Amino acid sequence: MVNKLKKQLVLKDPIYGYIHVDYEVIKKLIDSNLFQRLRRIRQLSGVQMVFHGAEHSRFSHSLGVYELANRFSSVKALKDILDERTKLIFLTAALLHDIGHGAYSHAFEDVFGVDHEKIGARMITNRYEIRDILKTIDDDFAKDVASVILKDGKFPLIEQLISSQLDVDRLDYLERDAYFTGTAYGHVDLDRIMRVLDVDNGKIVFHISGIHAIENYLISRYHMYWQVYYHPVSRSYETILEKIYLRVKDLCLAGFQFNADVDALKKIIENPDDLESYIRIDDFYMNGLISSFTRSKDDILKTLADDFLNRHIWKYLDDDITTEKQIKAIEEKYGTDKKYFTAYRTVSNFAYQDDSMHFGEEIKILLKDGTLSTLKEQSKLIKGLVLTGVKEDPKFFYRNI
Ligand code: NI
Repeated sequence: MVNKLKKQLVLKDPIYGYIHVDYEVIKKLIDSNLFQRLRRIRQLSGVQMVFHGAEHSRFSHSLGVYELANRFSSVKALKDILDERTKLIFLTAALLHDIGHGAYSHAFEDVFGVDHEKIGARMITNRYEIRDILKTIDDDFAKDVASVILKDGKFPLIEQLISSQLDVDRLDYLERDAYFTGTAYGHVDLDRIMRVLDVDNGKIVFHISGIHAIENYLISRYHMYWQVYYHPVSRSYETILEKIYLRVKDLCLAGFQFNADVDALKKIIENPDDLESYIRIDDFYMNGLISSFTRSKDDILKTLADDFLNRHIWKYLDDDITTEKQIKAIEEKYGTDKKYFTAYRTVSNFAYQDDSMHFGEEIKILLKDGTLSTLKEQSKLIKGLVLTGVKEDPKFFYRNI
């Protein structure tokens, strides 16, 4: 049963002014332990070592994505077609879309082989905290919310709104990350984008009159990737973290006696599906461990932990033909320990792609005469971006000795 709160709940937010909550089930989800856990996971992990203002959590981003979903739902084109249950699936999936994230997720997922989307879907359908709340709507509600997060095609319009080339998740994180990093790149004209949003044949489209707002969004996204998310210093910092995870994993397998409670990590190594242990691994847990590791008997772990805690950023070189000899010499210096003190890492990014196999469907533009076109057809600027193809940045990171 869908119950509304007697009095609307509002939460102050620096991006939207207020987050508005009307449904009881949304309030209960926000108050649940699993959602409160997101307060203890920073949105941008290593980026904070470059942009010190980036202290915001996945909690505030998740609330922001929810608020955007709420605002989108009141756009006439969507209001006309979303029944209350489907709207609530949209709001719930928006709120919970990052529920499966763990501490310093990307490094963690690489080393331990877990996938935050799959874990998120399991938290929604299997864990009593969330499952019991969603059950108050109806028996299938949790399953339907999880299906949106896993994008299995049951609610294509909602999936498109939550995750596509232009969705509520990206719109919130670009704006929020730009705000908290203090950069001038990521700002998006949200109101304009909402005003030009429409639905055509069950798919999200945008009126041609808003094309500049969409161009601006894509350029902002491109700049945020290269100036913020892929900043080499934050990549260097996250490399140190990844090596800590790797060393812990190797030591666990070797039966090493740690000077801290690594129980949750150990259990994940034994069984990557262990939800109970995964939930324990937030930033607080990891930071506590790393602090203890600075006094570890294992020299490698101690060195890595000290670098991480005290921001001893590793050096980096462009990985290309000109640095080949230099890189080899560094690797030789480290001998068998190079696995823990050096890393090749490449990031790549398409500003905009229309390859539906890999990047989701192209943004559709509705022309004045009612015919449907594509963004690439209608914007020379975007056509140019598509032609530039993928931009790559291969780097070699190493601890200086
Ligand atoms: Ni997100």
